[in-house]
Amino acid sequence: MNKRKILVTVGTRPEAVKMAPLIGRLQKEDWAECRVLATAQHRGMLDQVLDLFKIHADVDLDIMQPNQSLPELTSRLITRLDQVLDVEKPDVVLAQGDTTTVLTAALACFYRRIPFGHVEAGLRTGDLDNPFPEEMNRVVASRLARWHFAPTQSSRQNLLREGVNDASIFVTGNTVIDALLDVAGRCDGEAPYQGERRLILVTSHRRENFGEGFRNILRAIKAVADANEDTHILYPVHPNPNVRDPAHEHLGGHPRITLCEPLSYLPFVAAMKQAYLILTDSGGVQEEAPALGKPVLVMRRETERPEAVEHEVVKLVGTDFDEIVSSVQRLLDDPAEYQRMARGVSPYGDGLASGRIVDVLKRHFGA
Ligand code: UD1
Ligand code: UDP
Repeated sequence: MNKRKILVTVGTRPEAVKMAPLIGRLQKEDWAECRVLATAQHRGMLDQVLDLFKIHADVDLDIMQPNQSLPELTSRLITRLDQVLDVEKPDVVLAQGDTTTVLTAALACFYRRIPFGHVEAGLRTGDLDNPFPEEMNRVVASRLARWHFAPTQSSRQNLLREGVNDASIFVTGNTVIDALLDVAGRCDGEAPYQGERRLILVTSHRRENFGEGFRNILRAIKAVADANEDTHILYPVHPNPNVRDPAHEHLGGHPRITLCEPLSYLPFVAAMKQAYLILTDSGGVQEEAPALGKPVLVMRRETERPEAVEHEVVKLVGTDFDEIVSSVQRLLDDPAEYQRMARGVSPYGDGLASGRIVDVLKRHFGA
C-alpha cells in the first residue's frame, strides 16, 4: 500500500509542544509518511521545543523577522506555504491552534484543495477582538477544515453552533496533556528556582494587552513582590520587543523578581511544578497548570478555555491593577481559597489525544 503523506505544520512554541506527541505517534505508523514543516514563525522558541522532542523539520521556512507585523507575516507565509504544497503534494495537512501559521496553512490548503485537519479545534470566546487576532484565525481555520479535532465537548458544541457537520468533529482531548505528562515525569532535576520563598511564576505576551493593560500587569507584579517578602517571582520574558522592553524597564533589578529568557519546556514544566501559583495570559499554561494542581490567575478579560474556570481552579482577573493584586494576595493569605484552587483537575485531556487523532486518520485511509 502507498503510504499517505501527512504534512504537520509547526510555527510557534505552543504549536510545537502540542504537535510533538502527534508527530511522534505518526512517525510510528506504517501507513503514514509524516513530514514536518516548520514555518519558524518563532525561531528561538520553536527550536527549543523541536530540540527537546528531537524533531527534525523536513522543510524550514525560517520566516521570522524581528517585531514582525501581522500583515507582512501573513503575506510571506501564504506565498511560501503554497510553494511547499506544490512540491510536497501531501494527502493531508495538519495544523494546531490559532496562530498566523494555522490561518495561512488552512488558506493555502484551501487554494490547492488539499484536506486540512485542525488540531485543537472549536475554542471560542465569541469576540473577534479577544484574543486578537487568534479568535479570527480559529474561526477561519474551522470554516476550511475537513477534520476538527476538538479537545472538549464544549469546543465540539461551539463548532456545532457554527454549523459544522458533526461527522467531521472528533473529541480527542488536547495533545498538550500528552506532552505535559511525558515531560512532567522527567523534569525534576531541571527546576530553575533554587530559593526557599513561595514561587510565583509569571508569563505574559498577548497582543490585546499591549499598552495600558500590559503596564498594569507589570505594576501589579512589582506591587506583589514589594508587599510579600516571602515570595519570589520568576518571569521568563517573551522575546517580542513589545513585551521584553517594558518588562525589563519596569521590573529589572528588583531583588525578588527574576526576569529570564524563555525557558525550554523541561525547566518550564519544572517551574510550574515548583510554583505556589501562576499568573499568566497564556493559553497553554491555562491547560497545563490545573493538571499539575497549580492555581492559575489569568490576566485576560475572556477565555476560550472555560472548563478550568468552571472547575474553579482557574480565575480570570483581567488586566486591572487592583484585581490582579488582590487576587494574588488572597491566594497567598487564605489557605482555604488556595486549597480550593489547587485541587488538581485535568479537563483538557488524559494524555491519549494524539493516538485518537491518528486513529481517525487511519480509519479515513482504510489503513
Ligand atoms: C504568537 C501567536 C500567539 C501565540 C504566541 C505564542 C500569532 C498572531 N500569534 O504570538 O497566538 O500565543 O505566538 O508565544 O500567530 N520572537 C523572537 N524569538 C522567538 C519568537 C518570537 O525574537 O523565538 C519575537 C520576534 O521579534 C517576533 C515577535 O517576537 O517578530 C513576535 O512573534 P509573533 O509570532 O509574530 O507573535 P507572538 O506575539 O509571539
Ligand atoms: N512555555 C515554555 N517556556 C516558557 C513559557 C512557556 O516552554 O518560558 C510553554 C508552556 O508550558 C506552554 C507553551 O509554552 O506549553 C505556551 O506557550 P505561549 O504561552 O507562548 O503561547 P499560548 O499557549 O498562549 O499560545
